[in-house]
Amino acid sequence: MSSINQHILIIDYGSQYTQLIARRIREQKIYCVVYPYNKITVEILNNKLLLGIILSGGPNSVKDKKSPKLDNKILDLKVPILGICYGLQLICEKFKGKIGQSKSREYGHSIITTKNKSLLFDKIKKNNQVWMSHGDHIEKVPNGFNITSLSNSKIISSIENKNKNIFGLQFHPEVYHSLQGKQILSNFLFKICKIKDKFFLENFLNIKIKFLKDGLKGKKVICGLSGGVDSTVTSFILHKAIKKNLYCIFVDHGFLRHNEAHEVENIFKKKFGNNFKKVNASKIFLEKLKNIKDPERKRKIIGKTFIKVFEKEAKKIKNVEYLAQGTLYPDIIESVSFFGGPTAKIKSHHNVGGLPKKMKFKIIEPLKELFKDEVRNLGSKLNINSDLLNRHPFPGPGLAIRIPGKIDKKKISILQKVDTIYIKFLKDHFMYHKIWQAFAVLLPVKSVGVMGDVRTYNYTVSLRAVTSVDGMTADFYMFNKKDFTEISKRIISEVREVNRVLYDFTSKPPGTIEWE
Ligand code: XMP
Repeated sequence: MSSINQHILIIDYGSQYTQLIARRIREQKIYCVVYPYNKITVEILNNKLLLGIILSGGPNSVKDKKSPKLDNKILDLKVPILGICYGLQLICEKFKGKIGQSKSREYGHSIITTKNKSLLFDKIKKNNQVWMSHGDHIEKVPNGFNITSLSNSKIISSIENKNKNIFGLQFHPEVYHSLQGKQILSNFLFKICKIKDKFFLENFLNIKIKFLKDGLKGKKVICGLSGGVDSTVTSFILHKAIKKNLYCIFVDHGFLRHNEAHEVENIFKKKFGNNFKKVNASKIFLEKLKNIKDPERKRKIIGKTFIKVFEKEAKKIKNVEYLAQGTLYPDIIESVSFFGGPTAKIKSHHNVGGLPKKMKFKIIEPLKELFKDEVRNLGSKLNINSDLLNRHPFPGPGLAIRIPGKIDKKKISILQKVDTIYIKFLKDHFMYHKIWQAFAVLLPVKSVGVMGDVRTYNYTVSLRAVTSVDGMTADFYMFNKKDFTEISKRIISEVREVNRVLYDFTSKPPGTIEWE
């Protein structure tokens, strides 16, 4: 896609915020691509439609000899560059400035005061709240650069070289706490890089369908359909592109919600007819996960077993070359270290990091440049039923990652019952669509309770409900006491095996949305 849109290249040096930079740029309807610093090819750099480069932050110190460096090839392009945090320090080092190590990390809110007039700070207030997260700082400004702002602790918070069109920020404009961060990024995109082409989903859809149509002529593709938003949209796009050569396989791994397998089958059988197949593989999955406690092992085993099941099914179809998956951009970022990138791996999303290295299929991931909300929009452009599109996200490994510790049939059934009550409550009380994702987690903890006059010793569930735009950051949702009371009462009275209900008050970060 990068070859056909004007775009920005974000070079990832390992910051947990890199994905947010991409997100903020996309919010301004500008296309961008993210590549790890060690995966930048000549082809990426020589793209005539590359109009600007952002160097991300990162966990390293440029003073460390082994830390990633700034490649001269990037500077030779002469396109505008914006370095953020570690990116700024790389620029500083490259142009013979000096970086010093602070005694303590500066982390959190800070006020900066702009000094010289800078195009990057056009329409920016003189005193501005920004988000800092760094250990190192500039001690000597590099040759040819000016200071454009200072923080209230007198740290140089931005520099620029107007002639070379190189800019550096010590703070993170991509984080919401940087109050005018969006304007700063917008100035970089429109005033400095002079980018004009807007990125619209309609264009994306048309280009993608044509791309798939041309690239997959005469090839058979199987698509792992889960009934979730991502795989549904993936299958609809592919169906538009290759029609009868698309075979959708729905693997029931046994970790689905109550009745879900049946509902999914009903919906998709109608759309894809005999090209839709449901495979009941719950026995194999349960067997493979027997006695497995470690979350990463669970994810890996599930990913691997999925592929095995696919391979077996694909053989029956004959000559299948491709496997389509509903991988989204945040999935890639969060398990990117699998591609040799620098970002710390959070968890192996089963459709990315959980896949085995050797596979018989080539993978296609038509949505991998998109965020969840964009996928939902795309789905409505494809006329997918809004109930389907607006369902809460459900992870590929399903309830298996909502049962910390060992999994068995009984635990799955308990969790299914709790989940059904919880979700029904949210729907009945018109809260479901206010919440981005809600689910229950069955804890490997039993505790003492009393019901009537009888002592109980039963399981504990923790409820989670979060608000979010794209699942990359999330806030816990706050119920009122009446709702908490009602939900807890219903669960305990209707699910015999549960006698305690907790609520998870953790935002992301520092938590993740799922527990495993
Ligand atoms: P975390 O737990 O990483 O989740 O904050 C972010 C979003 O991703 C979903 N999720 C997954 N989706 N395969 C998926 O298709 C996976 O392996 C997976 N793991 C987490 C999660 O439900 C949340 O919406």
